[in-house]
Parts: sequence; structure tokens; C-alpha cells
Amino acid sequence: MVKICCIGAGYVGGPTMAVIAVKCPSIEVAVVDISVSRIQAWNNDVLPIYEPGLDEVVKQCRGKNLFFSTDVERHVAEADIVFVSVNTPTKTRGLGAGKAADLTYWESAARMIADVSKSDKIVVEKSTVPVKTAEAIERILTHNSKGIKYQILSNPEFLAEGTAIQDLFNPDRVLIGGRETSDGRKAVETLKSVYAHWVPEDKILCTNLWSAELSKLAANAFLAQRISSVNAMSALCEATGADVAQVAHAIGTDSRIGPKFLKASVGFGGSCFQKDILNLVYICECNGLAEVAGYWRQVIKVNDYQKSRFVNRVVSSMFNTVAGKKVAILGFAFKKDTGDTRETAAIDVCKGLIGDKAHLRIYDPQVSEDQIQRDLALNKFEWDHPAHLQPAAGEAAKQVSVVGDAYEASKGAHAVCVMTEWEEFKGLDYGRIYEGMQKPAFVFDGRNVVDVEKLREIGFIVYSIGKPL
Ligand code: NAD
Ligand code: UGA
Repeated sequence: MVKICCIGAGYVGGPTMAVIAVKCPSIEVAVVDISVSRIQAWNNDVLPIYEPGLDEVVKQCRGKNLFFSTDVERHVAEADIVFVSVNTPTKTRGLGAGKAADLTYWESAARMIADVSKSDKIVVEKSTVPVKTAEAIERILTHNSKGIKYQILSNPEFLAEGTAIQDLFNPDRVLIGGRETSDGRKAVETLKSVYAHWVPEDKILCTNLWSAELSKLAANAFLAQRISSVNAMSALCEATGADVAQVAHAIGTDSRIGPKFLKASVGFGGSCFQKDILNLVYICECNGLAEVAGYWRQVIKVNDYQKSRFVNRVVSSMFNTVAGKKVAILGFAFKKDTGDTRETAAIDVCKGLIGDKAHLRIYDPQVSEDQIQRDLALNKFEWDHPAHLQPAAGEAAKQVSVVGDAYEASKGAHAVCVMTEWEEFKGLDYGRIYEGMQKPAFVFDGRNVVDVEKLREIGFIVYSIGKPL
């Protein structure tokens, strides 16, 4: 029986390994993590992450050929293939702070692999890493190898949260990069044979190591760039009377452009787009490519602009002040169908409104009060570092309350801001919400989910991204 061990039981490690286990009953899969609470949750009824379809997959194979454990060293020692899916956040201090990837967690995992291994291993980069990381990892492993042979592969993950199980069951492609030597090619074939249990062969792309590593950064940069492009257009739409949804539809029907990923929004969030583009910018700068770095940096600048434009719109519409006013925030997750709040646009918008002394009442169907309070107390890039380095919930807490539904959030409020496109926000009884609010009652829709005409008929003053005012 082939044995797989995955270091890192997070949003990628957990779902990816669960799908490998369910599709490959002949393979034993162990997912290990240093976080005791995370592993406990993976072994419990309530999993540590919310992802549609994940519960069923985990229940099908947990305890059979899928195991979650904190016994990191034993499972790594026993494995033939070791996936490394640890976090690779943006550095907060030192060389490259605010841009470069922090590979501390990756390096400590690599050193541990070298320490405990007693047999040859294939080590797979699942985390998103800077180009040439495989070379650094190879060096750490071979210099500490005690005669053991390692092959490093790059196998970046392209799943999106909220659709992770769907994406893993039916990926557009699986990408495997390896050394172009006979041992390298053999390792690529071994990993390919795992995916071949359910992924058609023509969808498994094999490249050299550096192409695979760079393709992951490039894919996220291209995706994020589409959002910044349509968001930049949304500002022009508001200035001219065009409707961004109509513009996106019109350009998206061109088969060369395509219709997906053209939804204007308050800004993209999530743990990866910003981090990976900053990483790309840093790599470009290190290679003397200032113009290329500047091109990609602009994608983030437009995203920041979109978030601050939204805050400015709220404040300026409400007679230039929100001091002491109640604002309902509907949705806090960075997108629907996830409880993940990493880099969510809601954080920047809430901080902007708190800065103007608003009182916020926040509701999200999947995000806990504790998480929201912590997010609002953190400084930029701190969220992906150990809890003891993070500040406790502070000043923000006084101006923020977290409530159990949208009606409670909007009761007595001067304005409602929609931050996440949860389905339930489309079907709310806006007549009832209007009745309970202060007048004039404002709705600022950062996700274009509300029916603008209908809400205006009710009496709301409505602002929607990229729509005629
Ligand atoms: P995560 O923070 O949810 O999970 C990482 C886990 O690794 C944590 O539970 C942490 O405790 C554990 N860990 C860190 N160091 C460890 C060590 N030395 N030994 C054992 N466990 C250790 O992160 P994630 O969202 O799963 O992302 C992981 C990687 O995958 C990142 O590089 C990210 O860029 C990439 N990625 C993420 C997504 C996504 O949708 N979240 C998609 C594609 C790629
Ligand atoms: C993204 C990529 O889609 C995945 O392929 C990639 O594997 C992953 O990053 C990663 O490397 O972490 P994810 O961040 O989970 O996945 O979610 P997306 O669906 O890409 O959404 C990202 C953000 O963009 C969200 O805030 C979403 O609301 C926003 N978005 C997306 C828009 O504003 N408009 C769109 O048209 C699409």
C-alpha cells in the first residue's frame, strides 16, 4: 500500500487529502498538523473548516484510509510521498517585509522531514511558494540526508474555497513539475498515478519545476487582474451612467475574454490573491524587473482603491459623517459559502467606518463573533502568524457588535452594507428591514446582490457597485 502524509491540515491539506483518500481506497493518507485543536476538529463531527460537500467525503473514509493526527514525525517517517501544505504568509518584518513569502513554516517542515526520514521519499510542494523554492528545499534535504534520496515535485493547488470539493473532483487541470532527470521523471509518474485514479490523463500537465511553481503565481495574478480590471471599469461606469454588469456581459461574450470572473465587487479578498501577487512583485524586483513588478502591483493598488472608494461612498452619501451612526454589515467572509475571513474586503471597510466613528452591527452566517473581533484588531499581514504574536481584541470591540441575523443587524440602523454575496441576502424581506431603520435608509451593496429597482420602490437610497446612481 502506498502511504501518503500531508503536513498541514488547513483549507488545502484537509480537503485535498480527503479527496485523494476517497478516490484511492488503496492508498493510506495521513494528514498531520502541529495544531492540536485543528486535528481534534478534523476528528470530530464539526470540521475545522466550512466547505460544501466536505463532511460527506471525510465521513466516507475517515478511520479507513484517511487519518488526522498530531503525530507528525511518525507519519512522515512512514510515508512514501510527503505533501507539504503549510501556510506561506507574507513576511511582516526583515528583508522583503510586506512582500516576500515567509518560508519559516516550510523550512521547519523540510528540516523535520530530513530529521525523521529512514527511507527514500517524494516531497511535494502543495503550498504556494516563490519560484526556486524547490531548489532551497532540495538543499536542506540533501545536506541532511543521511544517504536517503529525495525527489522534490511542485504540485500547486488551484481549488477555490466554497467550491473546493467540486474543484478537486473535477479539476480543470492538475499540474506536476519535476526534475528532468530519470529519477525526477519517475517521481512525476508516481504522483501522476495517484491523480490518474480520477483525473483524465490529458488534464494532468507535467512541466519542469520552475514552470509549475511560477504557473501558480501567474494563475492567481491573472485571476486577480481580471477582478481589478472590472472593478476599475466599475468606477468609470458610476461616473458615466454605464452599468458594469452590462459591460461585463458584453465583453464576456467575446470567446477570447470569456464570461467568468468578471463580477465587480467591493474588492477581492482571500488568503492568496494579495499574498501571491506581492510575492510575484518581490520576485520581479529581485530579478531587476521593476516595470513588470509595477504592472502587477497595480492590481493590488486598484483593489485597495476599490475598498476605500466604497468607504468614501458610504460616508459621503450619509452627509459626510457616520460618527455615532449605526451601520449594519451583512456578510464578513471574503466570499459566500465559506467561513474564511482572511483578507476579506469587509475588514478594510469596517476599519474605515470605525475610523469615522460609526457603530457597526455585523452578521455573517458562518463567521463567529470571536473571529470578527480578532480580525478587526489585527494589523496588516498579521493574521497568518502564530496567535501569541497577535494583539487581543481592542478598541474596535467597543464600536462593534456581532448579531444572529440580518434583521437584528439592521434594526435601528442608518445604513446597510452588503459585504458578502450570501444567497440569503437576496431573499431578505427588505420591506421589513426598511420599516425598522432610521430614515433616510441607505443600502450600499458591495456585491450587487440586491434588486436595486425594488429597493428604491420601497424607499431606500441604494448604491450598487458600478451601477447608475
Ligand atoms: P492554512 O493556514 O489553512 O493551513 C496550514 C496549516 O499548516 C496550519 O493548520 C498550520 O498549523 C500547519 N503548519 C504550519 N507549519 C507546520 C509544521 N511545521 N508542521 C505541521 N503543520 C504545520 O493554510 P491553507 O489555506 O491550507 O494554505 C496552505 C498553502 O496552500 C498556502 O501556501 C496557500 O497559499 C496555498 N493555497 C491555498 C488555497 C486556499 O484556498 N486556501 C488554495 C490554493 C493554494
Ligand atoms: C482563488 C483562486 O480562484 C483559486 O484558483 C486559487 O487556488 C486560490 O485563490 C488560492 O490560491 O488560494 P479563492 O481565493 O478561494 O480562490 O476564491 P475566488 O473565488 O478566487 O475569490 C477570490 C476573491 O475574489 C473573493 O473575494 C471573491 O468574492 C472575489 N471575486 C471573484 C470577485 O470580486 N469577482 C469575481 O468575478 C470573482
